[in-house]
Amino acid sequence: MNHLDPQRHVRGESQYLDDVPVQQGTLYAAVFESPLAHGVLHGLDVTAALAAPGVVRVLTAADIPGTNQIGGIVPDEPLLAEGHVHFRGQPVALILARSEAQALAARALITADITPLPIITDPRQAAALGELIVPPRTFKLGDSAAAFATCAHVFEGVAESGGQEHLYIETQGAYAFPTEMGGVRMISSTQGPTAVQRHTAVVLGLGMHQVEVDVTRLGGGFGGKEDQATPWGALAALGAFVTRKPVKLVLDRHADMRMTGKRHPYSSDFKIGLDADLKIVAYEATFYQNAGAAADLSPAVMERTLFHATNAYFIPNVTATAFSCRTNLPPNTAFRGFGGPQGMFVIEAAIAKAAEELGVPAADIQRRNLLREGDQFSYRQRTEGCHAEQAWDTAATLYDLAGLRAEVDAFNKANKLKKKGLAVMPICFGISFTKTPMNQTRALVHIYSDGSVGISTGAVEMGQGVNTKIAQVAARTLGISINRIKIETTNTTRVANTSPSAASATADLNGKATEMACAALRERLLRHASTAYTLNYEGLEIRDEQVLAAGIPADTNWEKLVSSAFWQRVALTENAHYATPGLHFDPVVNQGQPFAYHVYGTALTTVTVDCLRGTYTVDALRIAHDFGQSFNEVIDRGQIEGGAVQGIGWMTLEEVAYSAEGRLLSNSLNSYKIPDLYAAPAVLDVHFLDTPGHPNAVLRSKAVGEPPLMYGIGAYFALRDAVRAFRPGTALPFVAPMTPERVLLGLYPEFVMASKILAD
Ligand code: MTE
Ligand code: HPA
Ligand code: MOS
Repeated sequence: MNHLDPQRHVRGESQYLDDVPVQQGTLYAAVFESPLAHGVLHGLDVTAALAAPGVVRVLTAADIPGTNQIGGIVPDEPLLAEGHVHFRGQPVALILARSEAQALAARALITADITPLPIITDPRQAAALGELIVPPRTFKLGDSAAAFATCAHVFEGVAESGGQEHLYIETQGAYAFPTEMGGVRMISSTQGPTAVQRHTAVVLGLGMHQVEVDVTRLGGGFGGKEDQATPWGALAALGAFVTRKPVKLVLDRHADMRMTGKRHPYSSDFKIGLDADLKIVAYEATFYQNAGAAADLSPAVMERTLFHATNAYFIPNVTATAFSCRTNLPPNTAFRGFGGPQGMFVIEAAIAKAAEELGVPAADIQRRNLLREGDQFSYRQRTEGCHAEQAWDTAATLYDLAGLRAEVDAFNKANKLKKKGLAVMPICFGISFTKTPMNQTRALVHIYSDGSVGISTGAVEMGQGVNTKIAQVAARTLGISINRIKIETTNTTRVANTSPSAASATADLNGKATEMACAALRERLLRHASTAYTLNYEGLEIRDEQVLAAGIPADTNWEKLVSSAFWQRVALTENAHYATPGLHFDPVVNQGQPFAYHVYGTALTTVTVDCLRGTYTVDALRIAHDFGQSFNEVIDRGQIEGGAVQGIGWMTLEEVAYSAEGRLLSNSLNSYKIPDLYAAPAVLDVHFLDTPGHPNAVLRSKAVGEPPLMYGIGAYFALRDAVRAFRPGTALPFVAPMTPERVLLGLYPEFVMASKILAD
């Protein structure tokens, strides 16, 4: 079973937002953005822009009919700036013109009167000034302070990880149409149609029923469109509402890079304590999250950092504290892993530090401390179906970890100017939205009288293959061919009050709802078959479109049965609601059962560093991964490959850089490097572990979207291993990404001194 979309993609037949035929009378929108990162906004001069050719309107905060507020968790984010500006790129005004070129030309004629205020870009500085988005949170198990006193070894350090640009191929955008009842309908490139609907309704002062959001598919989201599709949808809708004309707003690549938030950079302190047998007895970490200028999803991202602060290890005494720090950068947001990778990077740094200081392989510490069945996380949930050791041991055996280590050591002995490095990266990732109420959805299934099937759910297809998976679930449950099934667009009037497609939980949630709806329809049809064809209901089934009675083909098939049921006025539509069972979490004490289950795996990464130039290749990434009972190995393998390479990019090449004035320096693909085919590992092996899956996973096939990103962390530590082979004992700071420049400075620490002197 392949992914259903790629054939259409390569033929250019798939419809993205920008492929929708444009309606007559459409106005094009451009956004005037704040030129300063912080200041008092006294006013705008839009006279010249209004007089420019083709310009119809210039809208500011004063034109918003409802409430100028789009904050999801904290109401701290205006749609259009009012009174103050808080980051460069913040939307201030919306220009509506008859063509895109005219809108952009007019934008250049607007000037803003702003008195500059001090700019903060560093999260620790923000914390010191009390600039926090929400109060800090602490996850605590045991008593780390007391436990350190009993430890044979205690190490402390600092770890920093950088931001990451989502670089979805399709940039942010929306196309809004006025409707006859004074509302709006829009097509939005969003992971969260309901979020766009809800905030647009607030901005326009309408009920949510007056705002319809429709999504066919996204050219990628990666978390960047979980909350941050909202401003562009709301702005397009504002334009359509005010002018009663269709309004199209699509960001170009550079505007998208400048104006939208990214993965959160973190600066963290760690302290790790081990006993004489290398058991980790105590761990403390303090995370400073660079949230940017508004909350966006930062509090939830920060919380997931705490959930994953101990990665795949059992540590009996843990104190993990996180600060969400307000800076004058675009609000940072969800990005594959959602804070988890940032937490895992720090514990891996702590283990690497301990290993380097003690002169033992990091893998010895890692293996000895892996989670086992029934172990407790700091948030009190216990592992249930834990495959951490199985994943590690399978990877170590299958790919011959000892042999790889020996190969790397032999190579390093034989070569002066090239060094290889190796790292093992185990992962453990919790599946569910950590905000329990978000773990619900619905599926609306229509069987048409000809036997074809249309399915609407809350799931958004963004390349991850969720539509294919939902179609598979329906085909299996109904016993029919997948060719009869159409997955409809994601639409807020067909399926309401949905959570975003995120948290890797989309297939589980929407697949389970689809399974429930299809099972109800199947039962209804079989009950009908039993009366219409006088068959015993027990033992009736539909297999390959044939109705079987106690295994023997009956005188009816899917098409005939559906037709017969229709003429007998049997309901052929079902709407099912699914909510993940057993979840609860108390955010006051930070304890509960937040996750439906955990996903495990282990990756072995090998790299080669050119020790003259600091350049490197990731030679191989070998993974043993817990998919449960995968029912689509092609899609699942694709998620592992894509996620892992995206993680390697975050940890090695991708460097988001801002100036001290809050201007994005890495503002194009010239200055922001993402992994291409050459940067991807030449060998990328994925082994499907033999695990039973989990009843909370759809058809026991575990969620796969985010966990593989964290395999990329292994590339950082493999590079570190190679640098230390060239410079034994060198004190490399734990700073990611490990760009070729950082590798070079690690290989030649005297350069660090020289560059500091030059900088001074
Ligand atoms: N894969 C593709 N091709 N495109 C994407 O945008 N997003 C990732 C992951 N894989 C993404 C992707 C993220 S951040 C998440 S949370 C999951 O897919 C969301 O989809 P799922 O819940 O169906 O796994
Ligand atoms: N993961 C991803 N997205 C989310 C979450 C989460 O736990 N909570 C809210 N949005
Ligand atoms: Mo993914 S970061 O949960 O959209």
